[in-house]
Amino acid sequence: MRPQDVIRRKRDRGELSDDDIAFFVRGVTTGEWADYQAAALLMAIFLNGMNERERLALTEQMLKSGRTLDFSHIPKPKVDKHSTGGVGDKTSLVLAPLAAALGLCVPMISGRGLGHTGGTLDKLEAIPGYRVRLSLAEFGAVLERVGFAMIGQTEEIAPADRRLYALRDVTATVESIPLIAASIMSKKLAEGLDGLVLDVKVGSGAFMKRPREARALARALVEIGRGAAVRTVALLTYMDQPLGRAVGNALEVAEAIETLRGRGPKDLTYLCVELTAHMLVVGGIHDTLDHARQQVRACLQTGAGLQKLRQSVEAQGGDPAVVDDPGLLPQAQHVAELPSEEAGYVAALDAERVGVASMILGAGRVRVEDAIDPSVGIVLDKKVGDRVARGETLARIHYNDERRFMQARDLLRSAYGFSRTKPRRKGIIAEVIA
Ligand code: URA
Repeated sequence: MRPQDVIRRKRDRGELSDDDIAFFVRGVTTGEWADYQAAALLMAIFLNGMNERERLALTEQMLKSGRTLDFSHIPKPKVDKHSTGGVGDKTSLVLAPLAAALGLCVPMISGRGLGHTGGTLDKLEAIPGYRVRLSLAEFGAVLERVGFAMIGQTEEIAPADRRLYALRDVTATVESIPLIAASIMSKKLAEGLDGLVLDVKVGSGAFMKRPREARALARALVEIGRGAAVRTVALLTYMDQPLGRAVGNALEVAEAIETLRGRGPKDLTYLCVELTAHMLVVGGIHDTLDHARQQVRACLQTGAGLQKLRQSVEAQGGDPAVVDDPGLLPQAQHVAELPSEEAGYVAALDAERVGVASMILGAGRVRVEDAIDPSVGIVLDKKVGDRVARGETLARIHYNDERRFMQARDLLRSAYGFSRTKPRRKGIIAEVIA
């Protein structure tokens, strides 16, 4: 078999055999396939798609290109959550401690923020001393002691994904459901999970802007999970406006801590309770979602999740005092208020613009290698459905650089839309796909 035979088959809308897919992934990992051949096949897949069997085979081969973690010596169900990325999405910082406090083992391998979306690793690194670069042995030790651990992608896990993603990035082949699904699931399945909850975002601040695409991605992810014998459920959640009120790394950590104290914003708290409850059900700790939800809410009252977060910060080298005094997190030098120029109701708050404004302040990166400023960001006083008077504060901008501030302020102002009548609020969860 030659690479051009496999490329031709997909170019002509044929189905790739399991052997074709194994040959491709092996060739990409070893360098036997040239970049131009791999890129040609990626484009053929982008244009002609893959069926369920092909997607599962691609995922399994990408998974096999690296190591699969084995935490079978920890006598708890292993369950993780993965979000396709959004603005103000700090759910991992809340639900991993809650899930651990309620008996799950959560081996979370997370990503960094890029463009307008934030990343869990950048948020964690806002905590002074917190190390996200643990060896796999250290990762296992923290997991056993605390019940959850959070690290970045390692060289050992799904190396084929790293090469393929780099090629997709420069060949306009990122936005393909089979390629996205195999990329996400190969890394998640490497965690050796029993269950997985996926939060597939849809809306202006999400990767998938339209419900139809987001639903198709969610289905593809769930099918791969099922094919790999991992209990998987996907929640389709709206990302038209940011989640919670804080956008920016240290600000989001502070909001996650408030949420674990039971004092978080309603939308964030609601989504964290739902996602954790689904984790408990797929992990087999509870049979019903209602029972699981009750336990999660109780955990928010008792502070058991907060105690888990404190333990985790300490175990990963961070300053646990931050959990009791978020004032110890990095603080920006200036905070400016954005006054409303209109009176009425907030009818829209474009998540992508808020995310880009926060990135301009320095909270995110344009290129993977860019440095970020953990202290800057935005706190939204007004969100969709809130009443606002002229001159009232819409948001507060935390900044260190005047020029960046002015650019971010103008963009943030343009993210708000107003109406005279109260708009209908839609729920956060659009659909559950199991
Ligand atoms: N996230 C991933 O891990 N891979 C993709 O292809 C897209 C989003």
